[in-house]
Amino acid sequence: MAGNRTFTMIKPDAVRNGNIGNILAMINQAGFRIVAMKYTKLSPEKAGEFYAVHKERPFYGELVEFMSSGPIVAAALEKDNAVADYRTLSGATNPAEAEEGTLRALYATSIGENAVHGADSDENAENEIAFHFSRYEQF
Ligand code: RTP
Ligand code: MG
Repeated sequence: MAGNRTFTMIKPDAVRNGNIGNILAMINQAGFRIVAMKYTKLSPEKAGEFYAVHKERPFYGELVEFMSSGPIVAAALEKDNAVADYRTLSGATNPAEAEEGTLRALYATSIGENAVHGADSDENAENEIAFHFSRYEQF
């Protein structure tokens, strides 16, 4: 039976630091199946739209600038309990608080430049997958 889906981005810092391969290997080892994936770059408009829920937060401008500063890897992932399990694999938003062995403990450099994004609910995961991928790009 197909599991639930989540959405992730390997953020521009992790791409710049050469960690795409390491992060994808950990995603595979943790039991996620890749449903869709692309190497792309968000325009400031697209990044702003993606993170629109944070519009009123003080870090919004910085976040949009960072997320559009270089290429990212966007991916839809499938696994039982995908949303929660991917957030566990990612670790806390602030890498200083991220549990040892998590993606952010290993590859994030700061609370803003924190290596990966992970959807925070099933509903947001589906919306974020649809934001990045047509149905013909999902397998
Ligand atoms: P994400 O959405 O990227 O998976 O991260 P998250 O759920 O762990 O954290 P969230 O609260 O949704 O924040 C989204 C992203 O905004 C940046 N941020 N910067 N400078 C700051 O205090 C701050 N706080 C958040 C991070 O890139 C965070 O992942
Ligand atoms: Mg979030």
